[in-house]
Amino acid sequence: MSSHRQETVRRLTAPDIAARKGGVPVVCLTAYTAPMAEILDQHCDLLLVGDSVGMVVHGLPNTVGVTLEMMILHGQAVMRGSRRAMVVVDMPFGSYEGSAEVAYANAARVMKETGCSAVKVEAGPEVAANIEYLVKRGIPVMGHVGLRPQAVMVDGGFRAKGKSSVERASILDDARAAVDAGSFCVVVEGVAEGLAREITAAIPVPTIGIGASAGCDGQILVTDDMLGLFDWTPKFVRRYADLRGEIGKAVAGYAEDVRQRRFPGPAEIYFAKAG
Ligand code: KIV
Repeated sequence: MSSHRQETVRRLTAPDIAARKGGVPVVCLTAYTAPMAEILDQHCDLLLVGDSVGMVVHGLPNTVGVTLEMMILHGQAVMRGSRRAMVVVDMPFGSYEGSAEVAYANAARVMKETGCSAVKVEAGPEVAANIEYLVKRGIPVMGHVGLRPQAVMVDGGFRAKGKSSVERASILDDARAAVDAGSFCVVVEGVAEGLAREITAAIPVPTIGIGASAGCDGQILVTDDMLGLFDWTPKFVRRYADLRGEIGKAVAGYAEDVRQRRFPGPAEIYFAKAG
């Protein structure tokens, strides 16, 4: 890839994504590493460096233990691997809820140290003032409502939301609060289909669904889930590949070749030049 080409590719921005409301669906996936970002970049409008990295890459039981430093390291890697897609970095648990000033200091650090174009926060009226503070000071924010993984301790696990009318009204309020505070788009996760459609109709910015509805303005999945890298697949994931099986077969082949002294072969070793 020439440096000239690199300079001429324009990265999508928050206004580009916001302008897709009701238009061609916004294609989003998670990314945590440079090589994966490089593969996804040409197919996706938006790459999310999700705090799901804690579970997917680091083996944590949930996202609560994810740190700002982890998000920055993975954000830098994804920025290095991508050129066109907008890159959004998740603000981890405890980094934005306490006060607007703390949220700003942490989000500004993420933006400066990664070069990403926006941050994502789990949204609701309780953090609306912090979102507004960020947006007014130049930090685009993606909201996240419905199943909020950072609330796993309060909820007692990961479970779909919006089954009661009280819960539905509260999630709609969360989405409205995120938008009123200035969010350029809103992830809607793990909610009943009708509610996702209702939110999509009610707010003026794109909704990005995950376990939500085909009626959302865009979709996102955890890349490792849709590639089949785990033995368990959540109901809302469509597996487009079985990479776990493929990797297992490849590694079994390698192990057998090593044991049988079939690897390395003549093509894979260096020979000293004669003389
Ligand atoms: O952390 C994450 O990957 C997310 C997506 C599932 C939306 O928040």
